[in-house]
Amino acid sequence: METWVSYAFAWLATVSLILLASRLRRRKLNPPPGPKPWPIIGNLNLIGELPHRSLHALSQKYGPLMQVQFGSFPVVVGSSVEMAKTILKTHDVIFSGRPKTAAGKYTTYNYSDITWSPYGPYWRQARKMCLMELFSAKRLESYEYIRVEELKALLKTLHKSSGRPINLKDHLTDVSLNVISRMVLGKKYTVKSSENEKEIVTPEEFKEMLDELFLLNGVLDIGDSIPWIAFLDLQGYIKRMKVLSKKFDKFMEHVLDEHESRRKREDKNWEPKDMVDVLLQLASDPNLEVKLERHGVKAFSQVQRLFSNCWSLITLIDPTMLRGHDYELLPFGAGRRMCPGYPLGLKVIQATLSNLLHGFKWTLPDGVRKEELSMEEIFGLSTPKKYPLVAVAEPRLPAHVYPNVIVLALLALPWLEMDLCLIGNRFCHQNCSSHEETEQAER
Ligand code: HEM
Repeated sequence: METWVSYAFAWLATVSLILLASRLRRRKLNPPPGPKPWPIIGNLNLIGELPHRSLHALSQKYGPLMQVQFGSFPVVVGSSVEMAKTILKTHDVIFSGRPKTAAGKYTTYNYSDITWSPYGPYWRQARKMCLMELFSAKRLESYEYIRVEELKALLKTLHKSSGRPINLKDHLTDVSLNVISRMVLGKKYTVKSSENEKEIVTPEEFKEMLDELFLLNGVLDIGDSIPWIAFLDLQGYIKRMKVLSKKFDKFMEHVLDEHESRRKREDKNWEPKDMVDVLLQLASDPNLEVKLERHGVKAFSQVQRLFSNCWSLITLIDPTMLRGHDYELLPFGAGRRMCPGYPLGLKVIQATLSNLLHGFKWTLPDGVRKEELSMEEIFGLSTPKKYPLVAVAEPRLPAHVYPNVIVLALLALPWLEMDLCLIGNRFCHQNCSSHEETEQAER
């Protein structure tokens, strides 16, 4: 009898202690307001097809700092300039981690790419490499010729299809993909290679791979929120991630092999030409704080995907506002995890946009009124238009200038002081003779 009573007492004491501890913890944590979560799913029932819109609607009800429960994980959502500052500036360190998602595990070599890697020594080193080696002002300048060539190609193609409706996104995706693949991988995989060159992927396969990578990195996989049902792969995303990672690995191995054999062949005369070369060089550096392994190089080189779908972000505003200092507009994020590729992103977007505006008059196809344009969007890593814009370009300048004149800065927009043109291979200012010729033609 005595034993039974002491067992019951011990049991009651344990339960009371657990309850008390959880009460105290809850009281101490003082979480922000938010909707009451359901068991297992939390508040996932309130998150629709466009999660950013669902969160915005919830924030209208619960305020600029709220907590929602994504399955097993609490998610704190800041929805005002002040909260953005608090999260991305004041408490930057606390929020510098990344959730461990299935996409990071399966598509980026177990979180080896900078985007998904947890905050720590590996990420710090990767970040340093990005800022010092990959996206330094000097490096970006050395790739200027690539941006100019690809822009020229775009202008030529648009000029050829003038007067006909075109899907603008296809052309813009091509420019960004070509620029990034040439800078990172050393060549573009979006055009058919010559007869005798062995193709590792066709241009269609390459684009499909990147689209899939982009899509899978932006999905809300239910297993990420409720880990104990992840093995069921209810949405089929994990299966797709595994298939994709095999394809990517085969492709990246080929790219690395090609780069390594050039390095061997050229021996002492070898110089890094693209970012894969730079990464391979870094990987062989014995003094690196954290060793950069082969899969790290492959994961890094996948970074190019980030760029190809950013066109929805073209905005006619002062670019200094895009750098995240005022926390009003954060297309590149802010704080420690802010996009390290933003100088490149801005350069390509500004140059492309200014050339599209400077070189062409844009109208909607016959019979389409601007009120009819759909502004619907799709959720993902970026938020592209659901129905891509189809428009008609009419040249504004004489035909002979098209392959030669590239506006390198946003000349159409008043806040930009610089106004440089590239005539042939020579830079010039607004008052140079070739520029005058262009302006006269415009008039
Ligand atoms: C207009 C073009 C671009 C936009 C709008 C953009 C936007 C972003 C955003 C919003 C983030 C997340 C920031 C955060 O978590 O706070 C990010 C991260 C990142 N971006 Fe970009 N990006 C662009 C171009 C690029 C380019 C060209 C590259 C490189 C080729 C790049 C590489 C990265 C990397 C590596 C990260 C992860 C950084 C980290 O976690 O430390 N981005 N970008």
